Amino acid sequence: MSAIYRVGIIGCGSISHMHMTGYLGDERYQVVALADPVAEAGQAFGSQYDISKRYTDAREMLGQESLDIVSICTWHKLHAPMTIAACARKPRAILCEKPMGVNLGECDEMMIAAKRNNVKLAIAHQRRFNPVWTDARNLIAEGAIGAPMQVTTSGSQGLLNDCSHLLDFMRYVMSDPTAEWVMGNIERKTDRYERDIRIEDRSAGIIGFDNGAVGQLLQELHSQRRQGGRVYGEDGIMDIDERRIRLLNSKTGGWEERPSTGEDPSVGQATELADWIEGKVEHRGEASHGRAAIEIIMAIYESARLHEVVQMPVQTHCSPIDVMIDNGDLPVERPGRYDIRAFLLRGEEMQGE
Ligand SMILES: NC(=O)c1ccc[n+]([C@@H]2O[C@H](COP(=O)([O-])OP(=O)(O)OC[C@H]3O[C@@H](n4cnc5c(N)ncnc54)[C@H](O)[C@@H]3O)[C@@H](O)[C@H]2O)c1
Repeated sequence: MSAIYRVGIIGCGSISHMHMTGYLGDERYQVVALADPVAEAGQAFGSQYDISKRYTDAREMLGQESLDIVSICTWHKLHAPMTIAACARKPRAILCEKPMGVNLGECDEMMIAAKRNNVKLAIAHQRRFNPVWTDARNLIAEGAIGAPMQVTTSGSQGLLNDCSHLLDFMRYVMSDPTAEWVMGNIERKTDRYERDIRIEDRSAGIIGFDNGAVGQLLQELHSQRRQGGRVYGEDGIMDIDERRIRLLNSKTGGWEERPSTGEDPSVGQATELADWIEGKVEHRGEASHGRAAIEIIMAIYESARLHEVVQMPVQTHCSPIDVMIDNGDLPVERPGRYDIRAFLLRGEEMQGE
């Protein structure tokens, strides 16, 4: 009989449903408990999925339930503290939402806590389990477009949110090269926040990878925004989104379309987590990949702060955008704080954690 892994979910908002979809898709899991300080959020989620153990304090849940798996589905600022709190109770694995942390110091603390407590830590860049992205990765590795030379992507909602996925996309489809240098810049003329994190109005980053490819990331600069991008190789071009690949090379005689085979990435992500626990595979979302995306983001901010090319590894552990804002280097010209995700909040709250 299959093992049953006891799962607890911290944070019962929008993304927690995708975690639930993943766990429901593999019989080795049973979601036994949830925690959310907004009681109505826990009640709604618990009723929908028949989860009877409902807590308003995540640490109480971690202390009371002996969980094998913890899903962390809170806003970004709580990813590190909740991961560290969960690690201290020694579950087998943690699936924490992206972005891994809001700076590199947090990412390192999360990895130390996981290692110290022998916990497997994965970050939910779930599109690594999208069959289209995996098909693209395999085709590129097999030489379908020759050696990758350039990869371009375009997103919105700040570097940490949308663009952490896009940087992970660049690395994943090229078989996870290491970033060697980054040149970037940002504009922040309004007091813009995303899930209570200070973000820029616009940004751009150029990334030099150790496979010889150069990445280009645009944030709020280009109208074409999607989860995916375009890879230019020595012998062809691949255009990739979540639904299909379009491939052009000397053999295709025009653009060849390869549609998705339709597997749900959330289920693949959860299945591989159990397989990882059982020693069958490494997890594609293992924490070092989540950290790699954050390191490139911090390098873009650091390049903007220092006006120079940043050579990796980044050695600044706090977020350079916070340093710039606190130093007065990014004066707001149109004052007034606003959060582009305030619509997620319940009740009277307008500024969350
Ligand atoms: N992987 C993806 O594609 C994807 C998509 C959407 C969101 N996300 C990520 O998921 C995270 C959550 O985003 P969301 O859209 O679900 O937000 P949300 O606001 O819908 O949900 C967050 C939930 O966390 C709860 N919460 C707040 N403080 C808590 C605490 N101390 N303990 C337990 N729960 C607490 C809130 O009450 C809320 O119910 C973000 O970091 C976001 O980047 C990822």
